[in-house]
Amino acid sequence: MNKINIAIDGAAATGKSTLAKRLAKALDYIYIDTGAMFRAITFFGLEQHPKGEINVPLLVASLSEISIHFEETPSGQRTFLNGVDVTQALRNPEINAKVSAVAVLPEIRSFLLDIQQQLGEDKGVVMDGRDIGTVVFPKAECKFFLTASPEIRARRRFNEQLADGIDESYEAVLQNVKARDHQDSTRAIAPLTKAVDALEIDVSDLSIEAVFQVMTHHISEKGWTKQ
Ligand code: CDP
Repeated sequence: MNKINIAIDGAAATGKSTLAKRLAKALDYIYIDTGAMFRAITFFGLEQHPKGEINVPLLVASLSEISIHFEETPSGQRTFLNGVDVTQALRNPEINAKVSAVAVLPEIRSFLLDIQQQLGEDKGVVMDGRDIGTVVFPKAECKFFLTASPEIRARRRFNEQLADGIDESYEAVLQNVKARDHQDSTRAIAPLTKAVDALEIDVSDLSIEAVFQVMTHHISEKGWTKQ
């Protein structure tokens, strides 16, 4: 059987990337973290105009200078911006605070859309984000949409950040999660929304393992098996 594309969408900190990584590993597929791409462009914009602000016209004019790639390493997937490993920096609260404003910009969405669609051309990709099932791969063979309350997601993200040595209060994390939810779901282009043919999973009371089981069951129910 041929390979397929799998789209995983959902709001901030629903466990999308952990699940996408696990699925990709289990199926021997390529994992693509589209959030990391938006974060990398935000990082570039902040470096370009070092006053804690992003100069939007300058950033848009510089898109042709930006190259993003991923590498698999023993410590997991790393994100490279123009050849530099920025994986850790992309999780900073400053990026969290700015990324959704960058993700509304049409030129940036269209720049990344081309790259994302090319990556999925040969299938065998698990991609996570906000608009994968609706815009990037509207014909993906398998789509998931993950939901959970903002409080549960903020608690999860707070714990992850703590383990990564990022010092931010739970209240601040919750506020950012809510602000990004709002901005991501109300923007004009490619808003965060469930594709009609996506399987919605409320992950609030489910472990990662349990969600993984639901996903693999759904994939095999649809008739897709590992190559
Ligand atoms: O890890 P988390 O769920 O917090 O966020 P992420 O997946 O790294 O995405 C960061 C931000 O990038 C989101 O809040 C969106 O503003 C934007 N994004 C997007 O607009 N479209 C995507 N396909 C993926 C991310």
